[in-house]
Amino acid sequence: MRVLVTGGAGYIGSHTSVELLKEGHDVLVVDDLSNSSPESLRRVAELAGRPAEFIEANVGDAAALDAAFVSFRPDAVIHFAGRKAVGESTQLPLLYYRENVAATVTLLEVMAAHGCGRIVFSSSATVYGSASEPPFAEDAPTGATNPYGWTKHMIEQILADAAAADQELAVAVLRYFNPIGAHESGRIGEDPKGVPNNLLPFVAQVAAGRRTGLQVFGNDYPTPDGTGLRDYIHVVDLAQGHLAALARIGEGAGCHVWNLGTGRPLSVLEVIEAYQKASGVTIPYQIVARRPGDVAASYADVSKAERELGWRAQRSLDQACADTVRWQSNNPDGYAG
Ligand code: UD1
Repeated sequence: MRVLVTGGAGYIGSHTSVELLKEGHDVLVVDDLSNSSPESLRRVAELAGRPAEFIEANVGDAAALDAAFVSFRPDAVIHFAGRKAVGESTQLPLLYYRENVAATVTLLEVMAAHGCGRIVFSSSATVYGSASEPPFAEDAPTGATNPYGWTKHMIEQILADAAAADQELAVAVLRYFNPIGAHESGRIGEDPKGVPNNLLPFVAQVAAGRRTGLQVFGNDYPTPDGTGLRDYIHVVDLAQGHLAALARIGEGAGCHVWNLGTGRPLSVLEVIEAYQKASGVTIPYQIVARRPGDVAASYADVSKAERELGWRAQRSLDQACADTVRWQSNNPDGYAG
C-alpha cells in the first residue's frame, strides 16, 4: 500500500514508518520539522533497509498537500502531525485549533479531492478525561479539560461526521495511552525539545545527568502508592497497532475507535524503579504538589482492539526502559548530536 504519513519524522511517526516500510508499504512522510529532525528519517531508512519519501510541509498547507497527493497517490493516510503540549495549548489555544483541527479538515478535503478514502488518526486517552472510572472502554463518556484535549475530541467528531456522510471513507481513531520506549536498536526514540513534559523523557534526562532531579506530582492520590497510575505502552507496540488498524479499515467504510494501551496500570514510583533497574542509576526525586489537570488513574480496556484488530501490546515496562536507556546513552543530545 502507498501510505502518506503526516508527522512521520516525529516520535511515534518514525517508529510507525519503520514498521510500514518493513511490511513492504511505500511511505511518504509529510512533516514540517517543527518538533522533529530529518535525521530521524535517515535512521528510519537505515532500520528499514529502504527510505521513506519526504516532503517538508505543514499539513495545513493545502497546496503542498495537494502536490503531495498528485505525486505520491496515497491509498491511505496516517495522521500524526499536530501539537501536543497541554500547557502550551492553554496559552496558545488558537494555534492548537488551527494546527490540529483546521489542518485535519484541510487534510480530509484534499483526501476527498483525490479519492483517498482511508485514514488512521492519532487520538489520545486524554479524551476520557475524568468523566468516568478506568479501565476506559471506547464507549465511555468523553470530554476534555484543556484546548489540546478539545482538539482531539473535536477531530474525532469531525472524522465521525465525515465518515457518516461519505460511504467510501474508512476511519480508524486510535486513542493512545502513554507511549514510552524506543526502537530496540537505540537508533530512533523520543527527542523532546526543551524541558520534557512527560514522565519517561524527564526520568531519562535525570538518569543521564542532564537534569538534577525529578518532581513527582503528588503522592496523595487514591492509588496503592499514592502516585498517579497510567498505562505505559511501548512505542513499537503502538506502531504495530497502526498497521493492524490500517489493515482492518481496509475491509470497509465507517468510523472505528480503538484504544491502544496495555491495560496494565503502573504508578510513577514503579516507573522510576524500573528505570533505575534498567539504567543502574539512582534517580533523585522529590514529591511535590499534584499537577493541575492530572487524573489519579488512566488505563485502557484493551478488549476491543484485541478482538477486532487481533493486536495486543507485547512489550514490558522493563523492556521499554532498557530501550530508552539505549536510545538515551547512544544519543545524549537526541538527534542534534
Ligand atoms: C500527558 C497529558 C495528556 C497527553 C499525554 C501525551 C497532561 C496533564 N496530560 O498525559 O493530555 O495526551 O501527556 O503524552 O499533561 N509525572 C510526574 N513528574 C513529571 C511528569 C509526570 O510525577 O515530571 C506524573 C504525572 O503526574 C502522571 C504520570 O507521571 O501521573 C504521567 O505523566 P505524563 O507523562 O505527563 O502523561 P499524562 O499526564 O498521562
